[in-house]
Amino acid sequence: MPVTCSVVSRINTKADAIVVFLLEDEKEFKSVLKGLTKDIPHLQPLFDTGDMTGSKGSVVTGYVGSAASSPRIVIAGLGKREGMTAEVIRRSAAAATKKAAALGCKHVAYEVPEIKGFTVGDIAAAITEGSVLCQYAYDKFKAKKDSDMFVKKFTLLTDNSSLKDVREASKMASGTVEGVIEARDLANAPNNVIYPQTLGARCRVLGKKHGFKTTVFDKKKITELKMGGLLGVNQGSVRPPVFIIMEYYGGPKSQKPIVLVGKGITFDTGGISIKPAAGMAEMKGDMGGSATVIGTMVALANTKAKRNVIALVPSTENMPSGSAYVPGDILTFMNGKTAEIDNTDAEGRLVLADALCYAARYKPETVIDVATLTGACVIALGSVTTGMMGTDEKSMDKLRVSGVKTHERVCELPLYEEYEEQIMSDVADIKNSGGRAAGTITAGLFLKNFVSYPWIHLDIAGTGMVNKPTAYTPRGNTGVGVRLLTDAIHNW
Ligand code: BES
Ligand code: MN
Ligand code: ZN
Repeated sequence: MPVTCSVVSRINTKADAIVVFLLEDEKEFKSVLKGLTKDIPHLQPLFDTGDMTGSKGSVVTGYVGSAASSPRIVIAGLGKREGMTAEVIRRSAAAATKKAAALGCKHVAYEVPEIKGFTVGDIAAAITEGSVLCQYAYDKFKAKKDSDMFVKKFTLLTDNSSLKDVREASKMASGTVEGVIEARDLANAPNNVIYPQTLGARCRVLGKKHGFKTTVFDKKKITELKMGGLLGVNQGSVRPPVFIIMEYYGGPKSQKPIVLVGKGITFDTGGISIKPAAGMAEMKGDMGGSATVIGTMVALANTKAKRNVIALVPSTENMPSGSAYVPGDILTFMNGKTAEIDNTDAEGRLVLADALCYAARYKPETVIDVATLTGACVIALGSVTTGMMGTDEKSMDKLRVSGVKTHERVCELPLYEEYEEQIMSDVADIKNSGGRAAGTITAGLFLKNFVSYPWIHLDIAGTGMVNKPTAYTPRGNTGVGVRLLTDAIHNW
C-alpha cells in the first residue's frame, strides 16, 4: 500500500480528501482553526455551531472549494493533548480514513499535525498505521469486494523542515504494516488454501521478495529429527507436516540471534477429542502464531532491522481419522522427553515442544514463541491483551514497553511451580493437558519443559482473532504481535 509524503499546501493538494487533525485544547484548537478558516472561510460555521470541537474520535467533512469537483476536507478530532498517545492518533486517522472511504475517496492526504511531546516521526507513523490498517478485508474470494470502497493511496502532507523525518517514519511504518497485512492474510485463509505445504511455499516467496532465507523440512527430515510431537499431531492427516525455518541476518556475525517460534496448526478440529461444530471454522486461524512470526520477518526485513532473527514454524493440521493419535498415547519429543496425551485438542504445545528443542541449536539470545494456544486465555484476558509467560525477565520488560507503544499490550501470568502438579503423568514425564483451572499457565509450564535458554511465551488465542472490529482492526484475524515484536526487536 503506497504511502507517499510531500510538501504541498492544503489548497493545492491533488487528493480526493484532505484530513486535518484538531486538538480540543483551546490554544491549539484556535491556532489550527485560524489557519483553516483563513484558507477555507466557508468552514467557519462547522466550528461556530459546535459541530466540530476537536473531541476525541469525532469527524466532520466539508469541501475545500465550492466547485463540484472540489476535494473534500475531513476534520478529525484528537481530544485533549494531556494524556495523548500514539493510539489516539492511530484511531483518529482510522476514523477519518473510513469516513473518506465511505464517501468514495480513493486518494487521501493527511496533514501531519504538531503535538507537543511527540516527534513528527511518531505522529507520521501513527497516521500511517491507523489509516492503512483500517483499509483491510479478506475478500480474495468475493466477487463484490469490500476493498472496492477502500482508499488506495495515502499521502502525508508536511513542511520542508519535517519532510525527511516524516518520510523516514512513514517508510518504517509502511514496512511494518505490510508484515501485519501478510499475517492477517495468512491467518484468515481457510485450510483448503493455507495448509502446511502452501504455508511453506508462501514463506519461500516472502523470503525471496524481502530478503531472508527460507528452508522447509519435509516429513522425512522431521522424522530423522525425531520430532515426535509434530509427527503425533500430524498422524490423523492426509497432508504431511512441514517445519519451516526463516533466517534474517541484519546484525554482525557474532551477535546471538533472537529466535521466534510460531504455532502453525493450519486447522484444529481437536482431533479425536473433537471440538463442537459451532464456531469450529475459527480454527482456520490456529496458525495465527506462525502468521505473526512470518509477518514479523517481513516487517524486520522491510525495515532493515540490525538484528539476527530466526523464525521457526512447526506446521500441520490436527485431524481425527483412523490413523490419528488418541488419548493415552505417549509421544517422545526431539529432546527425548515424553508426554502422555490426555486430550488431542491440546495439540499446539506438542508441535511447539519440538520447535523449542530445535531452537536450542541457534544458541539464542532469547526465544519468543507465539501461539493461539488456549481457550482459557480468551476467558482470562479477552481480546484486549496477549497473555505473556516466561523465564526472561529483562526481555519481558522490553515487550511490556513495546506493548504500550504499539498498543499490542502483553499481560504476564505466573509460571508458579505449584501449578506443575496439574500436568504430572503416571506413565510419562508430563501430560499434555492440565484441566480447566489455570489452563493458560499449565500450557506455558508444559512448554517450559523444552527450553534451555531465556524464553517468553505469548498466548494470542484472544488477541489473534476477534469477532468485533475495532478502530483499525476488522473482524477476523488481527496480525497481532507483528508491530509488537518488530518494535521490540528494533529496540533490543
Ligand atoms: N487452538 C486451541 C485454542 C484456542 C481456542 C484458540 C479458542 C483460539 C480460540 C487449542 O489447540 C486448544 O484446543 N486448546 C484446548 C486445550 C485443552 C484441551 C487443554 C482448550 O483451550 O480448550
Ligand atoms: Mn486444539
Ligand atoms: Zn489449537
